Amino acid sequence: MIMSTSKNDMPKHLAIIMDGNGRWAELKGKNRIHGHSYGVKAVQEVVEEAVQLNIEYLTLYAFSTENWSRPQEEIGILMKLLVNTLRTELEKLLENRIRLNVIGNIQQLPEIVQSELEYVVEQTKNNKEMTLTLALSYGGREELANALKQLACKVKDNLISPENIDQSIINEHLYTQNLPDVDLLIRTSGEKRISNFLLWQIAYAELYFSKVLWPDFTKKHLHKALISYQKRERRFGKTSKQLLG
Ligand code: FPP
Repeated sequence: MIMSTSKNDMPKHLAIIMDGNGRWAELKGKNRIHGHSYGVKAVQEVVEEAVQLNIEYLTLYAFSTENWSRPQEEIGILMKLLVNTLRTELEKLLENRIRLNVIGNIQQLPEIVQSELEYVVEQTKNNKEMTLTLALSYGGREELANALKQLACKVKDNLISPENIDQSIINEHLYTQNLPDVDLLIRTSGEKRISNFLLWQIAYAELYFSKVLWPDFTKKHLHKALISYQKRERRFGKTSKQLLG
């Protein structure tokens, strides 16, 4: 089957859990860090291909709240990799008209990462081709707890009444307030878990699990996931007949 590349047939919002960097390196008898470096190459390829394919929103799970419990050395190198990548990729983001966005508990990140992120977000803020969101120090439950805390404060201050709390108000208090719901979620490395990623936003997402380890994930694998997505019927709780009518 040939993939349809029209905007209507593409997921508007594609999210990816990039998993398997460590195993990829271990299989090669190398340090886990080596896997993360090659993981950056896969990020570059997938981002470029997503723009070519007219995908409007791409969200990557780059560092979870749980990842803070990894060895300090690995965390430090991951942060360095992030800063270096942001520096070297800015030109390409501008060239491809990609806007960088960040979600997560950003204050927890080292100062240098925060300032580099702020700079690239500011430089790319007017780009309209695609929004690339990096989830950093991100956890879905933490995001929901934060939203509830903000809403509780607003109720306490009489800015909002409990009866008025609905799904769209909850949405407005999430990190993803400016993003549409996820249409397709891909996870690599053969694991079939969500791992606290975008819990609210994936309510109706199609899930696609690939056995490929993230550093080996290429545009060919992305195409395979998109073809699978295009073959599925998304009913959002309706019947097939209702969708046709
Ligand atoms: C999962 O593999 C990957 C991560 C925790 C980090 C993802 C980061 C990158 C791909 C590089 C930096 C990203 C950007 C956007 C520049 P794992 O280490 O959990 O692998 P394992 O499950 O095999 O141990």
